[in-house]
Amino acid sequence: MQNIDRDMSPNNPSSAPRLACSACDRQYPRDEIRYRCACGETLEVAYAADDALRQTVTHATFDSRRAARRGSAASGTWRFRELLPPFADAEIVSKLEGNTNLYPVGATAGGGPSTIGRYAGLDTLFFKHEGENPTGSFKDRGMTVGVSQARRLGAQAVACASTGNTSAALAAYAAQAGIPCFVFIPAGAVARGKLAQTVGYGAITVQVAGDFDDAMRLVQEVCADLGIYLLNSINPFRIEGQKTIGWELLQDLDWQPPDWIVLPAGNLGNTAALGKALAEARHLGLIARLPRVAAIQARGAAPFYQSYQGGFAGPVALKAETVATAIKIGSPVSYGRAVGVIRATGGVVAAVDDAEILAAKRVIDRAGIGCEPASAATLAGIRQLVAAGMIARDATVAGLLTGHILKDADTTLAAAEAGRNLADVPAERQAVARALAPFLTQPVG
Ligand code: F0G
Repeated sequence: MQNIDRDMSPNNPSSAPRLACSACDRQYPRDEIRYRCACGETLEVAYAADDALRQTVTHATFDSRRAARRGSAASGTWRFRELLPPFADAEIVSKLEGNTNLYPVGATAGGGPSTIGRYAGLDTLFFKHEGENPTGSFKDRGMTVGVSQARRLGAQAVACASTGNTSAALAAYAAQAGIPCFVFIPAGAVARGKLAQTVGYGAITVQVAGDFDDAMRLVQEVCADLGIYLLNSINPFRIEGQKTIGWELLQDLDWQPPDWIVLPAGNLGNTAALGKALAEARHLGLIARLPRVAAIQARGAAPFYQSYQGGFAGPVALKAETVATAIKIGSPVSYGRAVGVIRATGGVVAAVDDAEILAAKRVIDRAGIGCEPASAATLAGIRQLVAAGMIARDATVAGLLTGHILKDADTTLAAAEAGRNLADVPAERQAVARALAPFLTQPVG
């Protein structure tokens, strides 16, 4: 692994990042435990060494590490170490996250399944599959930085509220760091695979009699009362790690930015992180122009979309309902930051029905790629925006798939195409032949 630039060393106070308010001028020391500014807005990590970095960081800095197999340079998050808060090696808690596949899935994309591109109406489409992270979702990239900060601070315990993926990721990274972990989840509303991971990795799982928004409010109160370190995306270190989805995507595309990046949106942390990644990449001269960001919500859980339709006059809070439980969120905490991203990139917000999500999921699954329902909002949204003429048919589009198909097996099984899941076939040769006969005489697919 390359040495980090001396100016970025953790002990150089002139380069120490600060926690800066996203709305006013206030700043706080990097290691102060605080998630909101005195004015109430969220905080983000701001880098004093920004201008020095412009001179030193190039594409080659990161491209040369792609072949690393060990050490933090082998992580798709820590590969971008100069663009993250500095940590001593011993502080870093990593599972070599990231390095996820970028699948070409456009209608004319060579080597990839064209069914997805045809469904979307696009010749040039890529899916970056963040479900290929160690715990099966994009959350690992934020957690490696967030839990490293928890270890650096000597946190006695960590906690989060979650619809399931954040909790699985936090549980796994906390287990690796040996830090006790509490997760607050809405009782009965988390997909079983995610709950199994969370419990299996050893988190103390608090099933709250309420929805995600209740769990989110409670965990903030309890963390303040008990001195527990909060690792939801309101924590600025989570956002720093999640930025690396954007950078790795740009790197995968040889630093040629796509016209659009499309992602599912719930609590809006990932939208905020993607925007920060793009702004920093542009500032550092790693890309020449900003892609537009399209954030897609489920129609029954679309407070951000409703606010967008009202010209972002203010946040909307509602009671959320959708088959995509990962994004069943009625009052997103990163609202302000996400509004900034949509505005800065000339982006859009769209809402898609549950039926559209499930239809898109089937297209992704049947292409052999697969994803959980929330991730399929990406394809449903792209299809809608192309049909509406918002995304041009000749645009280059990159979509994020955020979670693995196995995260929510129950929804996949429930939506399985009638007649393809042959149950109760007798263990007898002729019976199996009869069951398979229709598929031999009719074209499949
Ligand atoms: N996709 C998946 C699979 C998710 O798990 C989430 C959020 C999102 C998209 C939306 O990202 O919240 O940053 O806008 N899951 C959180 C959780 C809420 O607790 O796992 P966001």
